[in-house]
Amino acid sequence: MSRGRAGGNVTLRAARPAETARLTAIALAAKAHWGYPAAWLELWRPSLTFDAELLARAWVRVAELDGALRGVVALGGEPPAVELTHLWVDPPAMGRGLGRRLLSAAVAEARRRGAARLTIVADPHAVAFYERLGARTIGEEPSSPAGRMLPLMALDPRPAGAGRRRGKHGGES
Ligand SMILES: CC(C)(COP(=O)(O)OP(=O)(O)OC[C@H]1O[C@@H](n2cnc3c(N)ncnc32)[C@H](O)[C@@H]1OP(=O)(O)O)[C@@H](O)C(=O)NCCC(=O)NCCS
Repeated sequence: MSRGRAGGNVTLRAARPAETARLTAIALAAKAHWGYPAAWLELWRPSLTFDAELLARAWVRVAELDGALRGVVALGGEPPAVELTHLWVDPPAMGRGLGRRLLSAAVAEARRRGAARLTIVADPHAVAFYERLGARTIGEEPSSPAGRMLPLMALDPRPAGAGRRRGKHGGES
């Protein structure tokens, strides 16, 4: 357990099957925070849903703030390219360092797996957040509704000095 940036005790741990409904609610609320139309949120609901099967096959970690579930992160894929498939912070808990903590844990896990690249199909509103933590835009990916394109970002999880440059805020903090 450690102190969050704006106070409060922050704990990271594995997600539990009994928490899937709460994790889905956090994902939907976080996405809705950017002001998307309700019809788009419905379209995206399947990709914002956590279920027991996802928890069984993927690396999924949650953040508790003062004992309450407030954020979640998940990884998919296999090295050399591991993908960040979920990163959601409950809107009332945004801006308190949980996103940074969750992304840092995912970077550490990607490094542990020996990945050379962590890719992120980013919400456009979150690009500056990922840049702040060392990611760079490397392309774009088609999304939904038809015609919508999303930034494809990448972050090198290997230790600084492993033959490349990294941003001031890259990696764990
Ligand atoms: C993006 C998100 C995960 C960030 O989580 P957070 O807990 O609010 O962010 P943190 O408090 O850990 O911020 C970490 C750093 O990024 C910066 N930051 C956070 N959100 C930012 C944004 N939208 N734009 C620019 N900078 C941002 C913070 O100022 C902070 O900088 P500092 O530590 O150097 O002062 C969270 O806002 C969220 O869930 N958003 C909605 C869902 C979403 O888009 N998720 C990403 C899907 S690809």
